[in-house]
Amino acid sequence: MSEKVHVFDTTLRDGEQVPGCQLNTQEKIEIAKQLEALGVDIIEAGFPISSPGDFESVVAISKAVTNPVVCGLTRSVEKDIKCAAEALQYAKRPRIHTGIGASDYHIKHKFNATREQVIERGVAAVKYAKKFVEDVEFFAEDAGRSDNEFLARMIEAVIAAGATVVNIPDTTGYCLPEQYGAKIRYLKENVSNIHKAIISVHCHNDLGMATANTIAGVINGARQVEVTMNGIGERAGNTSLEEVAMILNTHKLGYETSIVTPKIYPLSMLVSKMMRMPIQPNKAIVGRNAFAHSSGIHQDGVLKNRDNYEIIAPETVGVPQNSIILTARSGKHALKYHLERLGYNLTKEELVATYEKFLLIADGKKDVDDDDLIQLMTGTKQTGNIELVQLQVTCGTSSTPTATVALKLGEEIVKASEMGNGPVNAAMRAVDKILSEQLDLEEYLVQSNINRSFDTAKVHVRLCHKNKSYVGFGVDTDIVTASIQAYLNAINKIYSLTSKYLVEEKPAAQPASA
Ligand code: KIV
Ligand code: ZN
Repeated sequence: MSEKVHVFDTTLRDGEQVPGCQLNTQEKIEIAKQLEALGVDIIEAGFPISSPGDFESVVAISKAVTNPVVCGLTRSVEKDIKCAAEALQYAKRPRIHTGIGASDYHIKHKFNATREQVIERGVAAVKYAKKFVEDVEFFAEDAGRSDNEFLARMIEAVIAAGATVVNIPDTTGYCLPEQYGAKIRYLKENVSNIHKAIISVHCHNDLGMATANTIAGVINGARQVEVTMNGIGERAGNTSLEEVAMILNTHKLGYETSIVTPKIYPLSMLVSKMMRMPIQPNKAIVGRNAFAHSSGIHQDGVLKNRDNYEIIAPETVGVPQNSIILTARSGKHALKYHLERLGYNLTKEELVATYEKFLLIADGKKDVDDDDLIQLMTGTKQTGNIELVQLQVTCGTSSTPTATVALKLGEEIVKASEMGNGPVNAAMRAVDKILSEQLDLEEYLVQSNINRSFDTAKVHVRLCHKNKSYVGFGVDTDIVTASIQAYLNAINKIYSLTSKYLVEEKPAAQPASA
């Protein structure tokens, strides 16, 4: 029988502290509801005294969710605790998370206090929080760099004062997994009343060890993990929820969580989009390439049996399908797989001949998409034929961003104007208006290519249409033009498959015949 590890999600508190990632209350409610559906046990909804917006969000989340404990952060200060208690008044299961520094760095240079004084303040805070709620979590900030003997005394005192959960943060992301695990074990073995509280691990990723440290903590006795979606958080981030959940799921270590794993990927995308924080392509579990196989040997192995190169089935975490990317390094098996997907069933001989033609195309391209395969099979290039004819934007500090776009749709030219929250948004909205579509922009990345007199912007977009993702690229010296070119590039791929605005053009040069 596995032991339960509680998942404490702090995306909306520690995660939201990242500059530029702030959410409004409505967005926080949406994420909190999805976290509830994901199965997290505790949602840290904010730091109520820090701003009226945070206070309001903690109130709103308390009302919006039913099952998870809702938690509010405080310093070891009475006015913070009172404020958090007020913000949590509607929570079905409220928790106050209070604490103070535990390392000598914090004790001396942050509080100008002594070790005994910070213990006293921590104890007083827990006792005060207990007047409002039963469930009180205590954090010993910078515990990663604290002296274990002192930390054990502090933890024993706060448990005696009523703390139900004791959080041992590696605030600076300093610890090695072995050290951090040993710290948790030390507390398990040396705090006489430790059985009265749950030990929680809260790690930061400054040295890339947050997940490893969290798992080391669990193996050594912690039963709560503090995590964020996509590992979002200050500096290099916090421990990522999806990594810990999937490690405990994949390795049978004797622990389980309540995470509904197929909901991981959709929520990861939602958080990335709402927080405007793109996910690195090679991010474990949720990165665009996490399940993408491009080398021939791997593709062949995956197509024979996915277990050959995949330790997690993509559907387990809600990724729609494994991506076998077609490049010049792909083998015949990968080509056959994609052709069959598009409805072309070839004999062995036909496949050999088609593969040679495929290599001619693939040699000249980064990757080969469905349009190229259709062209390969029919000798006909089928592309959506939406072209940008005109783009004009007005923006700046004293005007509402407005864009006028004219598109050539087949033979027709259609024009529309729209306003938006910026010039790119306004121009994309104008395109949507012309096409009578509302496309779901999943990713938008801009890279600058600085070349003095000819600086260009390279824009990458990813759109979602009927549960499938389409990428588009655009390059221009004008960032809005590059963005709309990328947008149309992705839209043309969608329409080439649905045959809307489709034109057929003979390719300039036919590949050698089979
Ligand atoms: O990293 C940290 O120490 C924290 C505490 C406030 C829990 O986020
Ligand atoms: Zn933290």
